[in-house]
Amino acid sequence: MTSKNILLAITGGISAYKSAILARLLIKNGHQVRVMMTPSACEFITPLTLQALTGNEVHTDLLDAQAEKGMGHIELAKWADLIVIAPASANTIGKLANGLADNLVTNVILATTAPVMLAPAMNQAMWGNAIVQDNLAKLARFGFTIIAPDSGEQACGDVGAGRLPEPETLCEQISQFLTIKNTAQTLAGKTVVITAGATLEPIDPVRYLSNHSTGKMGYALAKACVSAGAKVVLVAGVKVNLPTPLGVEKRTIGTADEMLQACLQVCEKADIFIATAAVADFKVANIATQKLKKTADNDGLTLHLVKNPDVLATISTTYPHLLTVGFAAETQDVENYAKGKLIAKNLDMIAVNDVSDKTIGFGSDDNAMTVFFASEYGLDKVNLAKMSKGNIAKSLVECIANLLK
Ligand code: CTP
Repeated sequence: MTSKNILLAITGGISAYKSAILARLLIKNGHQVRVMMTPSACEFITPLTLQALTGNEVHTDLLDAQAEKGMGHIELAKWADLIVIAPASANTIGKLANGLADNLVTNVILATTAPVMLAPAMNQAMWGNAIVQDNLAKLARFGFTIIAPDSGEQACGDVGAGRLPEPETLCEQISQFLTIKNTAQTLAGKTVVITAGATLEPIDPVRYLSNHSTGKMGYALAKACVSAGAKVVLVAGVKVNLPTPLGVEKRTIGTADEMLQACLQVCEKADIFIATAAVADFKVANIATQKLKKTADNDGLTLHLVKNPDVLATISTTYPHLLTVGFAAETQDVENYAKGKLIAKNLDMIAVNDVSDKTIGFGSDDNAMTVFFASEYGLDKVNLAKMSKGNIAKSLVECIANLLK
């Protein structure tokens, strides 16, 4: 990642302490970081802390006698390649949405041509307020990038959405944003639906059948597609424990049936369907309505399983206009099995990995794949040597963009 001038704007909120760690992480990633703060931010964290961490003077005043022409806000506005407001209070959001500028931060935002990312943080009731949501929608229309808040326990004791995401997550989203700005927009105007993670098939109210899929490959692909300019909908298993990538719409599902229903709905207006999910091939025929109990005379339990729908095959038949991409994991005769699935599921492309190699695949950060294409494209297979799932995802997006040509 090339070094950028990042201007971190801190507004008033209890989560302002996280901004100190964010500043450190951005510097660690090689960026130049300068900080500006609103008067109320200074009530929560001192400018001195940020000055010590960044090694730069922290800006708090609109009128700055030290600045070359006494107009610190214009200099800062021009210096920044990117402005990140974290935390962004409801008050600052309201001012920005209405073009008000009564302090340094709001003046700089009005004066800059740099992109602005904004991480709202506030009490859950304030976050749910229609006025706040309306202001955010307005800012999004004006080109601001909104980082979704986390949900959970809040400093005030309430539970709900409105927490500032952890600094690592913010830093990751900023990196992703900068990557998007530097990536060829080969999927611009396209809508991509991606399935990811494991499905979960209930046995009774407390138990289920599932598998080890973590969703990493699907999430890496979602990021790569967003970076290439696509609108992305992720249909992900409920067990996936990864932050939703910037700009991705996520639908959470449990069972294979739920995954199919969600995909049928979102694929109607999509262009590309990528199935990375590890869908359970079978589900329990009669899910017990009460918890199954062990009894003294019961040494075993027999579950009757029935076949699940094939999400990928159903989508490729229901929506033949879609470019469809499948994944396969094989232990032997990789090429034949992969090509068999390509034809059987009526796919444009299939990416297959050899799961006999334990250093790749489920849960690992690396992968190695071979990609095969439908015969009408007249393309040779592509070998992707072992690399990070992020880089595999970028190569797969290149393959997809090549098919679109
Ligand atoms: N898939 C799906 N729905 C299913 C099963 C699989 O959408 N019910 C998708 C997967 O997301 C993946 C591809 O189909 O893209 C994998 O094909 P599949 O034939 O199921 O692979 P395996 O499960 O490895 O099949 P087999 O056990 O026959 O090797």
